Amino acid sequence: MSAGDEGAGSGLRAGVALAAFVGIAAAIYFLSDDAYLWFKALHVIAVIAWMAGLLYLPRLFIYHHGKTSGSESSETFKVMEMRLYRFIMNPAMMIAWIFGLFIAWQGGWFAAGWMHVKLLAVLLMTGAHVYYGRAMRAFGRDERPLSTRRWRMLNEVPALLMIVIVIMVVLKPF
Ligand code: HEM
Repeated sequence: MSAGDEGAGSGLRAGVALAAFVGIAAAIYFLSDDAYLWFKALHVIAVIAWMAGLLYLPRLFIYHHGKTSGSESSETFKVMEMRLYRFIMNPAMMIAWIFGLFIAWQGGWFAAGWMHVKLLAVLLMTGAHVYYGRAMRAFGRDERPLSTRRWRMLNEVPALLMIVIVIMVVLKPF
């Protein structure tokens, strides 16, 4: 299969996935009396997949760091990092944002103090996501951004943000 065929294949798969996503969301919105709860459930499912990637990708960078450029294991890490980022983390982040914003609007939550703190934490998390994407591309070019110690420290950031976010959304302290 040529690179062109492969590109067309993944474009088609992305189109089918997008159509399925829009179809399911529209069916829930128009047919269900519990659309808010359904969208919240889908939001939490997407958040779990996004978090799994945010916690695992820096681990892959740490293992990748010590591998010689061009070695078989280094090339395998490149594929694992790219697939995790493109096919799990990117769609999961977009779905978490889309449903999160939708239920925030439907529930009238934008005026709430806890929502402001949550949004700030989610923006920082999105910043970490973008930064990891840059690092993924740098590893793909056989660069080795940051030290393994730095990656271990950075790995804690999404975990700490997640703790803040979950406390805000569940306890709604203000
Ligand atoms: C991407 C932007 C996000 C927006 C706009 C957003 C917004 C919201 C809103 C409005 C709710 C419904 C609150 C309620 O009905 O009580 C909610 C629920 C929830 N969100 Fe998010 N959220 C986002 C990202 C996240 C992230 C990154 C996490 C976790 C790391 C998260 C975890 C949760 C959980 C666990 C719930 C369910 C809480 C419950 O039902 O008690 N959200 N979110």
